[in-house]
Amino acid sequence: MSEYILGIETSCDETAAAIIKDGTKIVSNVVASQIESHQRFGGVVPEIASRHHVEQITLVLEEAFVKADLTIDDIDAIAVTEGPGLVGALLVGVNAAKGLAYAHQKPLIGVHHIAGHIYANRLEKEFAFPLLALVVSGGHTELILMRGHGEFEIIGETRDDAAGEAYDKVARTLELPYPGGPKIDTLAHQGEETIDFPRAWLEDDSFDFSFSGLKSAVINTLHNGKQKGLSLKQEDVAASFQASVVDVLTEKTYRAAKQFDVKQVIVAGGVAANKGLRYAMEQKFKSETSMELLFPPLSLCTDNAAMIAAAGSIAYQQGHRASWDLNANPGLGL
Ligand code: KG4
Ligand code: ZN
Repeated sequence: MSEYILGIETSCDETAAAIIKDGTKIVSNVVASQIESHQRFGGVVPEIASRHHVEQITLVLEEAFVKADLTIDDIDAIAVTEGPGLVGALLVGVNAAKGLAYAHQKPLIGVHHIAGHIYANRLEKEFAFPLLALVVSGGHTELILMRGHGEFEIIGETRDDAAGEAYDKVARTLELPYPGGPKIDTLAHQGEETIDFPRAWLEDDSFDFSFSGLKSAVINTLHNGKQKGLSLKQEDVAASFQASVVDVLTEKTYRAAKQFDVKQVIVAGGVAANKGLRYAMEQKFKSETSMELLFPPLSLCTDNAAMIAAAGSIAYQQGHRASWDLNANPGLGL
């Protein structure tokens, strides 16, 4: 008998529902993005996000069932992102999941958003432990060691801005629309690394990250350039900024992977879509290690519900069940 898990994700600015089969096969995967509604504000407006989720959630759920050609009776469990994220946004998904699960007496599973990003990779390839995950998104930059399914040990994290946040802030300074990550990525490939921006290595043995100094350096360089009447090419600023981020992410991941002697290295989260990061990681790991390097397909890097269902499937197999008092938890720990 196959196992079907319904996943629901509403932690930020995508309303998403997906159904996956046997933990690894996507049957349907629907994402309603709100990016256009937030673009004119230069970032996600929590109140607008919540309203959109309320408008979209039923439609997105219906579409996930229609595309899968399944009904709620076919579903074994409902997995939903319980945190971290925007509380008003999370609440919409959590309540939709609870309503459906209660009405149809289905098991309910709360999923950590980062576990979801990591498990997006399992929709491509089975995990081999120990495994090191580099999670780089708009809200997170973490190195996570996994010795088994559902076991997450944070060995490094950002001390200030997340990598995606740095991308979005630098993009705003360059007057590029939100979200800036993909646009900087494109510009970076048209420019050259003409500016030597700082790299925050921190202490020798630290797997932590810091991007706020880099962000300030970019902003100051642009400001000073303007004052002196220098014409800095946007493409070169993007290329120089990206080189700094990619260098630190790649090198720290490499050092951690070596130290913990892992079998697989996986990259997850929105910034995993970055072409520069993909290239640098592939060069480093393929030439210097025999470790397997995994990236999710581009469509599964940014927020989606297939990844929540994938993490939910493991939790379901391990016997985890949420009670009816499951609540949105914006600061949920891994
Ligand atoms: O995982 P995600 O959809 O949401 C969070 O959980 O935060 O990640 C969104 C982040 C944004 O900061 C966006 O700018 C960044 O991922 N991003 C990228 C790229 N595509 C998305 N950053 C760099 N290069 C990209 N190609
Ligand atoms: Zn995310």
